[in-house]
Amino acid sequence: MASTERDHRPPGPDWAERIRRLARERDAVVLAHNYQLPEIQDVAHHTGDSLALSRIAARARESTIVFCGVHFMAETAKILAPDKTVLIPDAAAGCSLAESITAGQLREWKSEHPGAVVVSYVNTTAEVKAETDLCCTSSNAVEVVQSVPADREVLFLPDQFLGAHVRRVTGRGNVHVWAGECHVHAGISGFELSAKAADNPEAELFIHPECGCATSALYLAGAGVVQPERVKILSTGGMLETAKATTAGSVLVATEIGLLHQLRRAAPQVDFQAVNERASCRYMKMITPEKLLRSLRESRDEVTVDPVTAERARAAVERMIAIGHPGEGE
Ligand code: 13P
Ligand code: SF4
Repeated sequence: MASTERDHRPPGPDWAERIRRLARERDAVVLAHNYQLPEIQDVAHHTGDSLALSRIAARARESTIVFCGVHFMAETAKILAPDKTVLIPDAAAGCSLAESITAGQLREWKSEHPGAVVVSYVNTTAEVKAETDLCCTSSNAVEVVQSVPADREVLFLPDQFLGAHVRRVTGRGNVHVWAGECHVHAGISGFELSAKAADNPEAELFIHPECGCATSALYLAGAGVVQPERVKILSTGGMLETAKATTAGSVLVATEIGLLHQLRRAAPQVDFQAVNERASCRYMKMITPEKLLRSLRESRDEVTVDPVTAERARAAVERMIAIGHPGEGE
């Protein structure tokens, strides 16, 4: 057995019960993103998308938040709940998209567009958020940009595919988009989507707006390869909501494969197939059952954000959780 498989195996049959008991003893709430390993999703108190988890963190009653996700998500929880202890089971769980812009690069970009409103995707570091006017997630990116007066320029960062989606839906020509990308979603290509759609003509298409194939999906709809109403560009939380209501027999899913676990639970009668089975985020999968147990036992890895940076980032993050549909993804 490969060592990664061994690492992911829950440590003992009573593992989930030990996690819940330790969480109670430590007054901790365990949150898990939809891309986590299935066993982590199942043991968490709440599983959801970035927006839903941020909202839950902001109103948590427990004194400790254990964030099973990647580092920027735990940082966002700390910004929203500065008095809580925020833990991540492995502080090395990063994000290639968040790494695609630094605070220095953003300051330089802002200096080229004085007066522009900066809208940052939540997949950014706390330092970048501190230079930001409004944060958004994939659930509410369109609504956040629509909340900016139409005559103001917008700097949208860091994801180019989500940025293109926002420009398309809002019809705004004054949205400038940073050329960053998530290596997992960018790797889900239009070729793979076209081939799978041709083999499954009746399937619905759920496409995350960070995907390289989002434009191809709309092209396929325009060209009549799939019916336009079958193409849905959605956040992970939006996919789950849509799955519960779908009448389709099969759905092609373009996002990180961790979401398939939640989708199959939400709608067991539907055949969900990944557009790209290799679309697995190695950072998300760094959070293993063993590390979650260690996190609760040893109170590690603690996530801190410099208070001045957190103070500067807070307004942008608070506006993010206030905009959009409060129930989505929860
Ligand atoms: P959402 O859960 O907000 O759709 O985020 C996707 C993602 O890539 C998180 O890293
Ligand atoms: Fe970052 Fe992409 Fe992984 Fe999400 S899937 S955490 S955007 S690298």
